[in-house]
Amino acid sequence: MIKVDLSHAKLKQNLNEYQSEVDKIHHWIHEKTHKGNDYLGWVDWPINYDKDEFDKVKSLAKNIREKGDVLLVCGIGGSYLGARAAIEFVNGLYGDDKLEIIYVGNTFSSTALVQILEKIRNKSVFLNVISKSGTTTETALAFRMIRNYMENRYGVEESAKRIIATTDKNKGTLYELVKNQTYNYEKLSIPDDIGGRYSVFTSVGLLPIACAGIDIDQLMAGSKQAFEDLNTSDLEKNPAYQYGLARKLIEKQNKDVEIFVGYESHYAMLAEWWKQLFGESEGKEGKGLFPASVIFSTDLHSMGQFIQEGKKIFFETILNVETPKMDAVVPALRNDDDKLNYLVGKNLHWINEQAMQGTLLAHTQEGEVPNIIINIPNDNAYTFGYLIYFYFKAVAMSVYLMDVNPFNQPGVEVYKRNMFKLLKKED
Ligand code: PA5
Repeated sequence: MIKVDLSHAKLKQNLNEYQSEVDKIHHWIHEKTHKGNDYLGWVDWPINYDKDEFDKVKSLAKNIREKGDVLLVCGIGGSYLGARAAIEFVNGLYGDDKLEIIYVGNTFSSTALVQILEKIRNKSVFLNVISKSGTTTETALAFRMIRNYMENRYGVEESAKRIIATTDKNKGTLYELVKNQTYNYEKLSIPDDIGGRYSVFTSVGLLPIACAGIDIDQLMAGSKQAFEDLNTSDLEKNPAYQYGLARKLIEKQNKDVEIFVGYESHYAMLAEWWKQLFGESEGKEGKGLFPASVIFSTDLHSMGQFIQEGKKIFFETILNVETPKMDAVVPALRNDDDKLNYLVGKNLHWINEQAMQGTLLAHTQEGEVPNIIINIPNDNAYTFGYLIYFYFKAVAMSVYLMDVNPFNQPGVEVYKRNMFKLLKKED
């Protein structure tokens, strides 16, 4: 399903030298016996997921798609990036126009929120507020503003029928808020042992994804297949561990930055999700690769120069799709006034592939930038499910290879402490 091509990775060591280390870490992941082991619920989730909650997600999504014009998804970090990545990856940037999905609660930007409130004025609005802790200020503040808007517009009873809260099973401010409402909001839960950036297969990701008309059965089937295929420590058979190990070996060759490269515009949010997954999981204790991203060929016209000839601090990891969602053939016109007749009859995707091959050559040969290629067959829901689980396994392997806990994010608290002091928040 997924093939990792290391032939342009410029590795100086053979992966097999690390087989026994990989065996040990595979055991840590599956037996849940190492650092952060209380956050390894994602490992078996593709087979153990809560089927009743899954059905509830489907029926809520059906109702929202029938009655709504807009779904506001209010969350930040792991509480929205996975859903947004899935929706763009599977539907494309302009795919589903039955229901508009707008993301809020991921910024303090006043302009962003006020513009959204203006935009939804005459539309039928539903809201999914998502916060595991239930205390994240960006999300809580946007929720307050939108709740106020909805209650003024629909009244308290009707707006309660339009609000779904996804939060912890039994604690937190959002949990308490839902419990104490006169008119209960629908509630969906986040398992205790699955952290934010590993939560896309839970209701956190599934409700918005289902609301976008995506087949979440297919998505979970993809994740289940990945669970089965990648449940081996044998490096020859496990592309996730090949990738997880290779990126660490390249880091040892004095590279500090990994650049995610996509050749499809609708992979930009997947890149954002990937940056959070890898950045928050491995950037600790003064260690880790800085995750960056580009979309080619778009960014060849902005970042291409630096990658080709700038400081040699990075390597690239290309996500390459074999069959695109859609394709078209270059038409013949009356004459050749745009000088493009040499492309007549060619597919647009074929042209994109030639751009990729040309860039790969330029970056790896003259630019001396190592490249890993991750090949996926297509970009449907099943492949998305498979790919996300692949990245989970890869990041767990990579970060455990550094002997760091992949599942916490202690550094994120520092800005919050300072901000709360300035906001004069009481403890
Ligand atoms: O990966 C994580 O745990 C974080 O990025 C969280 O998802 C993010 O901070 C949002 O947290 P919460 O869902 O508690 O609002």
